[in-house]
Amino acid sequence: HIDPAVYVRKAIRSVPDWPKPGVTFRDITPVLQDPRTFRVLIDLFVYRYMRQRLDLVAGVDARGFIVGSVLAYELNLGFVPVRKKGKLPYRTLAEDYTLEYGNAAVEMHTDAVRPGQRVLLIDDLVATGGTMLAASKLLQRLGANVHEAAAIIELPDLGGAQAMRDSGIPVYSVCSFS
Ligand code: PRP
Ligand code: HPA
Repeated sequence: HIDPAVYVRKAIRSVPDWPKPGVTFRDITPVLQDPRTFRVLIDLFVYRYMRQRLDLVAGVDARGFIVGSVLAYELNLGFVPVRKKGKLPYRTLAEDYTLEYGNAAVEMHTDAVRPGQRVLLIDDLVATGGTMLAASKLLQRLGANVHEAAAIIELPDLGGAQAMRDSGIPVYSVCSFS
């Protein structure tokens, strides 16, 4: 009888000094590996979004694919990928964003969403918010109505989730790490 969000949070592994000294990496692989925490996690999202009349789930490359596709399946919705640049074969639209060192871009197929569709955007984690913000801009350029951006984890100290909320996109995260 533990809060499901707490149950999921307890299964996240914190790896000190990875990928570089001073950074603590929040690793979701133990959550996925255990069938009980995996189900509790997905069910949290299912119950949050089951009555929201969504049209589509968009998952961010790569870890957003894992939770996003399972959630889309459970909600009886289609799934579309937001990919790192250069991976999609058909006509694409790209959105650049800034990383700590250098730049990156995310891409979607131009026919991945139809104007006016209500889309849930999902990834594993929001840190600086650069990835989620670029993904939501891309969706909006395609005419989507970004209902919410969802993540397993937000890192509030980096301010990314708050920046997204300030720009008008609601953000839901299962848990936070400071
Ligand atoms: C991580 C994570 C998010 C993003 C969060 O992915 O899965 O997508 O970074 O960081 P941000 O809020 O500062 O943009 P990463 O780019 O490491 O790619 P991967 O999923 O392919 O490992
Ligand atoms: N964990 C997983 N992905 C990440 C992290 C983290 O701590 N920080 C930025 N992307």
